[in-house]
Amino acid sequence: MKNLVLVGFMGSGKTVVGRRVAQELGMEFCDCDERIEQRTGRCISDIFAREGEAYFRELERETVRELAAGQGRVIATGGGVVLNPENLRDLFATGVVICLWAEPEVLLGRLRHTSDRPLLAGSDREQRLRALLAQREPLYRAIPLCVDTTHLTVEQTVGAVLDLYRQQAGQQQ
Ligand code: S3P
Repeated sequence: MKNLVLVGFMGSGKTVVGRRVAQELGMEFCDCDERIEQRTGRCISDIFAREGEAYFRELERETVRELAAGQGRVIATGGGVVLNPENLRDLFATGVVICLWAEPEVLLGRLRHTSDRPLLAGSDREQRLRALLAQREPLYRAIPLCVDTTHLTVEQTVGAVLDLYRQQAGQQQ
């Protein structure tokens, strides 16, 4: 069974949607950031604060490699996974990769009460989010399968992801 991989910006719903989709499909759910936290025994913010982003990206690279090597998994990646083409190569090799998109206003709303995103820390959260999203937009847009969640409920997004996965997995059998 092919993996189902969710990519997308912070707040796009990868973890929430991924858990539900995994339940529906009876597949194992794996969250990349959660794995990193389990492996290191530390939270993502702490890793960013002490060792910096480059070190986090190494841990992320290693974790993606491990997760992509399995099968029958629903994998929720971190928003920056698209920055390294090697991550995408591994994820595409064993999975159906689906991007969850949302417009910045919606992302800001969803992330309003969170404090665990080091890249958005500080007072100018909106500016940071817009800058980061603009910078990454071409990478997200390059994923052939995409669900625009801007006007969708979680339920509707789960449905759209399941439809795409079933279509693709069926075609590739
Ligand atoms: C990041 C997204 C986060 C986490 C880290 C870096 C990013 O994951 O991996 O804070 O670079 O966009 P989520 O997308 O699950 O919030």
